[in-house]
This record gives sequence, structure tokens and C-alpha cells, in this order.
Amino acid sequence: MKGSNTHRIYLGILSLIVIFTTGYLAYVGYSYYSLSLEDRFYHPDYQALKSSGVLGHGFGIIGSLLILIGVAMYMLRKRIRKFSRIGVLKHWLEFHIFLCILGPVLVLYHTAFKFGGLVAVSFWSMVAVVLSGVIGRYIYLQIPRTIEGQEMNLNEINQIKDELNQKLIVLYNLDDSVLDAITQAMKKRPTRLENNILKRSIAKYSFERQTVREIKSILKQQNISGKNFKHVIGLIKDEISLNRKIDRLITMQNLFKYWHVAHLPFAILMLIIMIIHVVVTVTFGARWIF
Ligand code: HEM
Ligand code: HEM
Repeated sequence: MKGSNTHRIYLGILSLIVIFTTGYLAYVGYSYYSLSLEDRFYHPDYQALKSSGVLGHGFGIIGSLLILIGVAMYMLRKRIRKFSRIGVLKHWLEFHIFLCILGPVLVLYHTAFKFGGLVAVSFWSMVAVVLSGVIGRYIYLQIPRTIEGQEMNLNEINQIKDELNQKLIVLYNLDDSVLDAITQAMKKRPTRLENNILKRSIAKYSFERQTVREIKSILKQQNISGKNFKHVIGLIKDEISLNRKIDRLITMQNLFKYWHVAHLPFAILMLIIMIIHVVVTVTFGARWIF
């Protein structure tokens, strides 16, 4: 289900809602938000757009609610077993991202681009969570997943590898000695590990090509040629790409552990200061439309 058309349209609509809201509020509010703090007081929309105004305050309340809902529903779905059968996790994450981008946009307009006081810490934590979210989303996409959106584990990938090996034996009934030679060639790893990621990937790439060349010469020595030769090399390349997937899975799972350390604490910090902010403003008499 790598994005059915309906699903792609649905995601497009969510993105358009975010873009439209951001653009529309910028457009109607520009003449107000672009003024200096002193001049804003004389602007006709001051009463509506200031942080405690009908609109400005409303943006804060609705934006915060969207964030709370976006976080709560994702965490409940992910962590409570009873809910684990409702929908695909990937789709819940997409909705988390939608609500947790739209919410911060509204909160941004609530601040009216004035970041003062203790609550500024909440605002900048929110920015940190959103930015770390974008990075996390990227890492998340790199982790191989099943159609259900669950992380594939090493066993599952290894199982696919076993099936490939089985194919080599059954379909092309290669000799044990040939199979051994191929397995040995596949097991080799680069002797020198580069520290630089770019250099490492280039080294790995050329190493993989060398492995393929080595296996080609083994097959040629066995007089395997034509269609069979192509098929066997195809299978070997599939296996190399699975090995790459396994490496990536391990790296990304490690990265993701560190990533949670950034996304979650900033979310909590933001939430705590937001609660203090709400209690303080309500205590000082802030009322919305109620
Ligand atoms: C993450 C959520 C929120 C953030 C980051 C945030 C941030 C801010 C900021 C930066 C200001 C301007 C402070 C200043 O004038 O120096 C402000 C004002 C205000 N906020 Fe929020 N806010 C949030 C949520 C809320 C919510 C949920 C409410 C409603 C209960 C609220 C009610 C107010 C009010 C009434 C003011 C005006 C205070 C005044 O002018 O004295 N805010 N907020
Ligand atoms: C104010 C905004 C946001 C808040 C408060 C927030 C909060 C959270 C929380 C509390 C979790 C659960 C962490 C856990 O299970 O340990 C989470 C997960 C996640 N969020 Fe956000 N988030 C926000 C915005 C975003 C954005 C904008 C993105 C992406 C562009 C994003 C991507 C993710 C990802 C990829 C996960 C992890 C999925 C997983 O481990 O299953 N978040 N978020």
C-alpha cells in the first residue's frame, strides 16, 4: 500500500489545509503583524489580533488543542494494546504530523510574533519539537517497514535472505563448492572502515561491485552462462541490497533512540510551561468568548 491514489489525495488535502491556513492568516494579518509593538495599538484589528483578542486568543486555544489531540491520539494508539488494531500506525503518524504542524502555526499567530516572558521557552520548545519531528520523520522513513507500517525486524529480513539462498540451490542446483565460494565472497567485509560517512558509502559501494565481480568469475569458472548466469547475479544483487537494508536498519534504530531523547523532553517542557501560561493568564482575568 505504498500510497494509493486516494491516500495521496488525502495527504495532499492535509498539506493544502496547512499551507492555506498559514498563507491566509499571513495575508489578512500582515498589516497588523508587520507594525512595531507600539504602533499596533492604533491598528483597527488590534482588539481582534492581539494575543488576548478574540482571534489571537482563539488561535492560541485552538492551536494548543490541536497539538494536545495530535499527541494524545498518537501515543494512545501506539502504546495502548487495546487500540493497536485500529487502523495502520503509519496513518496515525501522518495525522499526528498534520495536527502538530497546524497547531504550532496557529500558536505562532497567537503570539503575534512577540516572544516574551517565560512562555517564550514554551514557544521555542515547540519550535524544537517541530524541527526534531521533521528530522525524526526522515529517520522513520529509512527504517524498513512491512505493509502494516510496523518496523521489520532482523529476523524477517534474514528470512527473505534465506529464501533467496534456497532459490539459488533449488532453481540453479549449484554445487556445494560453488555455493560455498559465493557465501564466502558475500561474507567479506571491507577491512578499513572510513570515518567519514560519504567516504564510507563510496568504499562500500565499490566493495559491493568487487563482490559481484568475484562471484561472476566464480560462475564463469563453473561454465554457468546465459540466462542462468544473469538470474544468479540478479539474486546476488538482491542479497547485497538486503545486506544494505540490515545495516541501515541497525544504524537507524540506533539514531531513533537518540532522537526520542530530543522529541519527547521538549514536548513535555512545552506542555508544562503552556499549562503554567494558561493558569497565569486565566488567573489574571483572561477570558475568551465564554
Ligand atoms: C504552546 C502554546 C502557547 C504558547 C507558546 C503561547 C505563547 C504566548 C506568547 C508568546 C504570548 C505573548 C506574551 C507577551 O505578550 O509577551 C502569549 C499571550 C497570551 N496567551 Fe498564550 N500561548 C500558548 C497557549 C495559550 C493558551 C492555550 C491560552 C488560553 C488559555 C493562551 C492565552 C494567552 C493570553 C490570554 C495571552 C495574552 C496575555 C497578555 O496579553 O497579557 N495561550 N501567549
Ligand atoms: C508541537 C509539536 C509536536 C509535539 C508536541 C510532538 C510530540 C510527540 C510525542 C509526545 C511523540 C511520542 C514519542 C514517543 O512515543 O516516545 C511523538 C512522536 C513522533 N512525532 Fe511528534 N510532536 C510534534 C510535532 C511533530 C512533527 C512536526 C513531526 C514531523 C514532521 C513529528 C514526528 C514524529 C515522529 C516521527 C514520531 C515518532 C514515531 C514513533 O516513534 O513511532 N512530530 N511526537
